Amino acid sequence: MAPGALRLLPKVELHVHLEGSFTLERIKELARVAGESLPEPAEALFDVRDLATFLHRLDWWCGLVRSEEEAEAQAHGFASWLGGEGVAYAEVTVNPTHWSGLPRPALLRAVDAGFSRAAGEGGADCRVVVSLLRSQSGEEALGLVRELEREMPPRVVGLGVDGNEASAGWTGPRLAPAFRAAASLGLGLTAHAGESSGPEGVRSALDDLGVSRIDHGVRAVEEPGLVARLAREGRTLNVCLTSNVRLLFGDLAGHPLASLVAAGVPVTINTDDPLLLGTTMAKELELAASVCGWEAGDLLAATGVAVEAAFCTEPEREVLRHLLLAGWDSWAQPG
Ligand code: ADE
Ligand code: ZN
Repeated sequence: MAPGALRLLPKVELHVHLEGSFTLERIKELARVAGESLPEPAEALFDVRDLATFLHRLDWWCGLVRSEEEAEAQAHGFASWLGGEGVAYAEVTVNPTHWSGLPRPALLRAVDAGFSRAAGEGGADCRVVVSLLRSQSGEEALGLVRELEREMPPRVVGLGVDGNEASAGWTGPRLAPAFRAAASLGLGLTAHAGESSGPEGVRSALDDLGVSRIDHGVRAVEEPGLVARLAREGRTLNVCLTSNVRLLFGDLAGHPLASLVAAGVPVTINTDDPLLLGTTMAKELELAASVCGWEAGDLLAATGVAVEAAFCTEPEREVLRHLLLAGWDSWAQPG
């Protein structure tokens, strides 16, 4: 199935960062308005192959956003773009630590407003997973959740944590109180793990943070008992093939997606940072089909896993189930 055909079908994405939603043109324009020069020639800005440099780049261009109008426009533009890619529903990670030019509540309000405007115009229905940075202290993490308790924009559905687990060290116990507090507010829980950390990071996300989903999680494959646990407990891995090839494995041949699927782990297919990585949901699904030998019905099933793992309400989930079945009907029927 070609990306062209997949592009038209309704899709759901659970692992995508607003920080990775900038085009080079947009970055150049924001830098011009902010009076800043580019730290690298424009062509080199997106040519990143390690996580630490990648995260610094996100800090730099998100830091160029200095008004609520610019943040609203970024969110609106991205949700509109996702809609054009056939993404019906997306849970978009927003990590306020990257956006140094805006106070956190203003950023989250602006993103919420941009997503609502785009949804009203037929763009993707985007929700927000507010994300901590792995290196934040326990107090900072709890402070964010307390702030959400006072003011929670309506599209916020979850708490996550991203950043560099390898350099941050053992952070599970330190962040656990913030995740417990978020759960008591009714937020869904997810964590980046098993990308720059190994299986121990995935185990910590399950045991210390109590997450139902893991962003990446692919290095769980290094510990067969953990893979069996993920399958048994039905914890979903939000896998991003292009991102993992660029930042982790170097090539697709070394990617464990097919083993994880064969072991019965629920997996979803995602883009991570689509504009930065030059990818789309259609391309990622096409890659997954090539890695796993999937047919259209398998791609529909993987999209269905995303619907079941989404942090939306049950009535919203039911609407998504129907939308998928109606949209994929003629593609996914055997024969
Ligand atoms: N933030 C954006 N993309 C990320 C990734 N792949 N890993 C950790 N943090 C991120
Ligand atoms: Zn990510």
